[in-house]
Amino acid sequence: MREPAGGSGVSASLARACASPERPIDPDIMEIVISERQIQDKIRELAAQIDADHAGHEVVLVAVLKGAIMVMADLSRALRVPVSLEFMAVSSYGAATSSSGVVRINKDLDRDITGKHVVVVEDIIDSGLTLSWLVRNLSARGPASIDVCALLRKPEAAKVNVPLRYVGFELGPEFVVGYGLDYAERYRQLPYIGLLDPSVYT
Ligand code: PRP
Repeated sequence: MREPAGGSGVSASLARACASPERPIDPDIMEIVISERQIQDKIRELAAQIDADHAGHEVVLVAVLKGAIMVMADLSRALRVPVSLEFMAVSSYGAATSSSGVVRINKDLDRDITGKHVVVVEDIIDSGLTLSWLVRNLSARGPASIDVCALLRKPEAAKVNVPLRYVGFELGPEFVVGYGLDYAERYRQLPYIGLLDPSVYT
């Protein structure tokens, strides 16, 4: 679970000045880090890579709830290869064990992936522990191939050895919300990725 670590010096008025009149920026957002347009362009790029790598296959997309729902919705619609959509929900066993990457499955796949080409869809790889565990778990089910597509990657994720084949954007350590990413279950619906005003959580 992601938690904000600190604030930022970015001016809220600057961010608000960039908002379009049709879709004003959320007042809790200090700065748009990745715009809706940038996200949608990147999703199309990632889809083109997956299409090229999986030409002639059906691909099973596995999204991890809840954060990945926006990426799943847009990526699946941008792909040209045939896809089926699967969802998993997982949670850490607790703070004491989360550092080992041990997670509990709250909702499993609805179908067998033996012999299937699987692409795990994630919004963000932070420590990489969730993904590392998930890839081991899914690999044990005998898929023909398993790759990972993540829109965002934090620096810590580089330490974990996972088949992160498709990556959208590299982020810094700052806490961001939007496009699936939440703070206290809010802001997931924002169409952009933004910096949350520290006054929201301090
Ligand atoms: C986020 C994100 C990833 C996970 C990444 O989910 O969607 O699944 O954290 O973190 P890690 O790389 O440190 O393991 P979160 O647990 O916040 O749940 P959510 O998707 O429901 O917001």
